[in-house]
Amino acid sequence: QEDNFKKVISHAKEYGYVFQSSEIYDGLSAVYDYGQNGTELKKNIREYWWKAMVQLNENIVGLDSAIFMHPTVWKASGHVDAFNDPLIDNKDSKKRYRADVLIEDYVGKLDSKIEKEVKKATKRFGDKFNKEQFLATNPRVVEYKEQGDAILKRMGQSLAKEDLADVKALIDELDIACPMSGSKNWTDVKQFNLMFGTKLGANAESAMDLFLRPETAQGIFVNFLNVQKSGRMKIPFGIAQTGKAFRNEIVARQFIFRMREFEQMEMQFFIQPGTQKEWYDIWKEKRMQWHLSLGLGADNYRFHDHEKLAHYADAAADIEFRFPFGFKELEGIHSRTDFDLASHEKFSSKKLQYFDHETNKNYVPYVLETSIGLDRMFLAVFANSLQEEELENGTTRTVLKLPAVLAPTKAAILPLVKKDGLPDVAHTIIEDLKWDFNVSYDEKDAVGRRYRRQDANGTPFCITVDHQTLEDQTVTIRHRDSMEQERVAIADLKSIIHEAVDM
Ligand code: GAP
Repeated sequence: QEDNFKKVISHAKEYGYVFQSSEIYDGLSAVYDYGQNGTELKKNIREYWWKAMVQLNENIVGLDSAIFMHPTVWKASGHVDAFNDPLIDNKDSKKRYRADVLIEDYVGKLDSKIEKEVKKATKRFGDKFNKEQFLATNPRVVEYKEQGDAILKRMGQSLAKEDLADVKALIDELDIACPMSGSKNWTDVKQFNLMFGTKLGANAESAMDLFLRPETAQGIFVNFLNVQKSGRMKIPFGIAQTGKAFRNEIVARQFIFRMREFEQMEMQFFIQPGTQKEWYDIWKEKRMQWHLSLGLGADNYRFHDHEKLAHYADAAADIEFRFPFGFKELEGIHSRTDFDLASHEKFSSKKLQYFDHETNKNYVPYVLETSIGLDRMFLAVFANSLQEEELENGTTRTVLKLPAVLAPTKAAILPLVKKDGLPDVAHTIIEDLKWDFNVSYDEKDAVGRRYRRQDANGTPFCITVDHQTLEDQTVTIRHRDSMEQERVAIADLKSIIHEAVDM
């Protein structure tokens, strides 16, 4: 698993997807830059989301609110008081950890033990192996599972009650060794606010303390009436936004899974109080369908319903994805009630109510939120697509099987040789295709090596111009996943590619 994850990180760098930020200065931890291919992949994921959420839903509109917001926003939202992580320092290694993540890691180890037992049994029993029954009855597996559940439950309860001493006790009891030194010399657990502070204004006396937004959602809440009135929106309706968010994360060792600067894609759906359960179920289902539509494999997703709820929610679930380091949160669906709007009413003394023409009544709407991290979605897509395949001739190929709709480059145009006018024909094809798709040109090395390069780059099609092209205006088109090649007319290229890559 760890090796796979390392391959993902190095492939992302080698092929221009993700670089460490400020790398020449040894980097900045948990901050990353997207390269030439990463930028395209990220943009394509954002557009795939935007189309599904905004373009295809008559009652959802977009917004682009500023990152800087009035500081009172974060008092009203609860972030000043409640947006904390429980931290613990190791006195020997002088490293700081998120207490809950240390504990979760421990439970993850129990999960790996279960997986090992399952593997062993699968080998032993072959076709007769019944996994469900095994998980429910094997005494060792049942014990690991119960132990893990009990630990997580106790941690959840202690954190909910802010009983940090108990979280510390749990760490001691579990004998969680510091990965650096094997030591168990911990400080007490402390709460640590995750917002980044900054200042607005030129001189020290008049400067105003600001926060970089830790979520995009608040920009939507404070603009709720602006959009509703100017767009004559009728409840139920939604406002969607994508944009940067910032959190001073402590655990920062999972590549772009948990970053200090990241991008969110959020949608707030404004509804009548009392209908939240219905909409919660609808949006859980809709969002899961969106994920499944990309074809990364249904068994890589699962719901995780929250028992411990954030300060703003009356129900919440995560869509979890099977990352290289196990199932982890990819997206959250939260029933936020009227917590945010009611709180902004209170703090701003401005009415944030909706007038319902049918009932002639004013009310503060309830809100159903869907919130996904763009970078995290990038990691899900990228890691899942990176595969090593054994070929019939005994060699292996590295192929990035990105969904065609998301691939940065849709086709590479390759002249078979660098002479006889083939490069000119290739460039004519590019001139035509580039208005519809991102395409690239490659003439270096033997064509087989160029195919492999495009496989590793995630390009779904390679179009090769050869001598026959000069005679009959046909080319070969090679499909990345099957490696099959067909001869097609140049005139048909556009429709073939459109068919494969259009949303
Ligand atoms: N407005 C609700 C909200 O922000 P959240 O569960 O804190 O909820 C939503 O975040 C999503 O944002 C997560 O499911 C995750 O995909 C992404 N996300 C959160 N923190 C992140 C981080 N530090 N790095 C990358 N993505 C993050």
